[in-house]
Amino acid sequence: MVYVKSPGRANIIGEHTDYNHGLVLPFAIEQRIDLIIGQNKSGALRLFAKDLDEYVEWNANQLKFMDKGWSRYFINAMVALNLDLSVGVDVVFGGNLPQGGGVSSSSAITCGFIAGINFIFKLGLSDEEMIKLASQAENGIGLDGGIMDQTSIFKGVKGKALKIDFLDHTIEQYDMPTSEFSFYLLNSGQKHNLVETEYNQRRATCNKALKSLNKSNSTIHTFRDVSLDDIQTKLIDPIEQKRSIHIIQENERVKHVIGALRTKDYHKIGPLLLESHTSLSKLYEVSTQEIDYLVQRCQEESKILGSRIMGGGFGGCTICFTNGKLSKKEFNGIQKDYMIKTGLHLTILEISACQGIQCFPV
Ligand code: GLA
Repeated sequence: MVYVKSPGRANIIGEHTDYNHGLVLPFAIEQRIDLIIGQNKSGALRLFAKDLDEYVEWNANQLKFMDKGWSRYFINAMVALNLDLSVGVDVVFGGNLPQGGGVSSSSAITCGFIAGINFIFKLGLSDEEMIKLASQAENGIGLDGGIMDQTSIFKGVKGKALKIDFLDHTIEQYDMPTSEFSFYLLNSGQKHNLVETEYNQRRATCNKALKSLNKSNSTIHTFRDVSLDDIQTKLIDPIEQKRSIHIIQENERVKHVIGALRTKDYHKIGPLLLESHTSLSKLYEVSTQEIDYLVQRCQEESKILGSRIMGGGFGGCTICFTNGKLSKKEFNGIQKDYMIKTGLHLTILEISACQGIQCFPV
C-alpha cells in the first residue's frame, strides 16, 4: 500500500500562458488531497471518498472515459494508464483543498492517484510521463487544459516559486518572499467547472490567432515570436487581438515578478498582479463582476499590495499578496462588503510553497 500526499497549486502570475508556450510562476501549496492506495484480489476499482462518505465500485477491466461524478478522476486516470492488471485497486481519499475553487483539486486527485499507481505497481514512470498521463486523463473530461497544474503538483519545492517555461519545458526555482510578506487565496464562492466555461474557446481563439500570424510571417511559431506591433498590423479580428495582447504582456509580467523576487523588491509585485487582473478581466475576459469587485475592494486595505483572479477563471479564487498578515478584523471587513455586494460567502486560506507529490509506503 502507499500513502500519497498530493498538493494543490497556486499561481503567482502567468495565467492562460501555459497552453500558449508561455511563462508561469506557480507553487504547490500545503492544502492537499491525501490518498491511500492498495491492491485487491477482486479485480475491482473500489473507491471511497472520505469527505463525502461515498463508496463506489467499478470493474477495473471495463473502464471508459467518464465526464460526470467524482470517480471520473480515477477512472480516466486508469484509462490513460492503460495497464494490463490481473488485480484490482482500492483507494481511500480526502483532503482540505476547496473543490471548484481554482486550486486544482481535480488535478491533485488525478496526479496523486497516478503517482500512487506508479509506486505500488513499480511502473518506473518519470514525473514528465505522469504529468502527460494526468493531462490526458483530464482531457478525457473534455477540458483542453494546459499542464501548469500537473507540473506544479509534481515538481513543487518547499519555499520556492517555480518558473516554468512552456517553450522548452524548463523549470527554475526562485525563493518565495521573506516572512513579512504573505500570499492568501480568497475563495469567491463562485464555483467553476472549467469544462462548462469558455476555457476551451479561449485556447481555440489563441490557436487561430497564431495561425493567422504565421500565415503573414512564417518565422512566427509561438506567441514568443510575436510583438505588439505584429498584433496591430497582422491581426484583423479584435477578439484575437485582445487575447494575443494579454498573452504577450502576461509573459513580460512574469519576467518582472521574477526580477522582483531576485532583487527582493517585493513591493513591485503587487502592481504587477493588479495589471494581470485587469488584463484577465478586460482583454482575456475570464473574470466575473464579483471577482472584479473583490480585487477592487482588496485595494482599500493598506496591507494588500495587489491581487488578481487565479487559475482558469470564471469564478474560483483570487491570489492576494500582502505586506504583513491580514488580521481577522481586516478580513471580516472584506468578507462583509463582498457579501453585501454579491450575496456570496468569501473564505480565506493563507498559502505557502510546499513540496510536490510525495509517496510513502505503508
Ligand atoms: C487552469 C488550467 C491550467 C492553466 C490555467 C490558466 O488552471 O488547468 O493549465 O491554463 O487554467 O492559467
